Amino acid sequence: MSAYLTAANTMRTTRIITVKTESPTVKTFIVKDTLCSKAKPGQFLMLWAPRVDEIPLSILDAGDGAVSVAVKAVGEATRALHMLKSGDTVGVRGPFGTSFTENDGRILLAGGGTGTAPLLFLAKKLAAKVKRLIFVMGAKTKDELLFLREIEALCTGKSVVAATEDGSYGLKCLATEPLEALFAQEKFDMVYTCGPELMVRKVFELAEQHGVAVEASLERLMRCSIGICGSCVIGKYRVCRDGPVFNATRLREVTAELGVSKLGFDGARIPI
Ligand SMILES: Cc1cc2nc3c(=O)[nH]c(=O)nc-3n(C[C@H](O)[C@H](O)[C@H](O)COP(=O)(O)OP(=O)(O)OC[C@H]3O[C@@H](n4cnc5c(N)ncnc54)[C@H](O)[C@@H]3O)c2cc1C
Ligand code: FES
Repeated sequence: MSAYLTAANTMRTTRIITVKTESPTVKTFIVKDTLCSKAKPGQFLMLWAPRVDEIPLSILDAGDGAVSVAVKAVGEATRALHMLKSGDTVGVRGPFGTSFTENDGRILLAGGGTGTAPLLFLAKKLAAKVKRLIFVMGAKTKDELLFLREIEALCTGKSVVAATEDGSYGLKCLATEPLEALFAQEKFDMVYTCGPELMVRKVFELAEQHGVAVEASLERLMRCSIGICGSCVIGKYRVCRDGPVFNATRLREVTAELGVSKLGFDGARIPI
């Protein structure tokens, strides 16, 4: 049997259980799916909006026969998903890709935009067992700071640092500014990051400067999600198969492209 004819890679049509508006541009969807309900933090799924397109999305939570994702409306497929209601049909493939290692000790999480989704899933797994959990989150405005209340409930004791570009909540700056101060003040055992790639690059560089182990979840254009089409390449890796979670060793190998360039829809390299 071909390695591609796996249960995970077989499309399942399923129903939306719940749709929740999280921000002016983001909705979360809970759908029934036994396979994805066993996913680990960092993995992604492919969600098919009927008659429109299939897109990669990080898993926000999983369990009890269901999986949830946070979808930001940016184009055709994501806007079509935002039109759907509970009970509507969607298609699911996955879960795919690598997951975050679940380390102990002093942990720093750094998320921007919808990149907070997989980090919230990870934080739920880590909160009870780690010594320290600090979550730095960034967004353009207060309205777009995703899952703030859930994250504050998980990371108790002033361990959430929020930054907005317009200053409508928390610090008025990019999330990378408080991160510089945190790295200088405190010795972390591990940093996890997901978000805009320029932020991810900066977090990687700070972790390297301070000798802290790092894992980053990367995004690239994805079509097949199983390592065939090559649209998600970064360096010698395919993000769908070798990622989306990359450790420091692999991130060092792709610094020429990390936060610098990626392949566009036509296969041409475009700047980030
Ligand atoms: C591993 C991974 C995890 C992701 N997790 C999330 C998430 O949790 N929440 C979320 O809202 N978005 C996530 N994305 C991005 C999401 O896949 C795109 O926003 C979506 O595919 C856009 O589709 P569209 O038809 O609405 O927009 P389009 O009109 O096709 O494009 C709008 C923008 O989205 C980008 N994009 C389009 N298609 C893809 C694709 N197949 N893969 C990656 N980027 C694409 C384009 O570069 C463009 O900038 C993730 C992407 C990857 C690769
Ligand atoms: S999406 Fe096709 S190789 Fe990764």
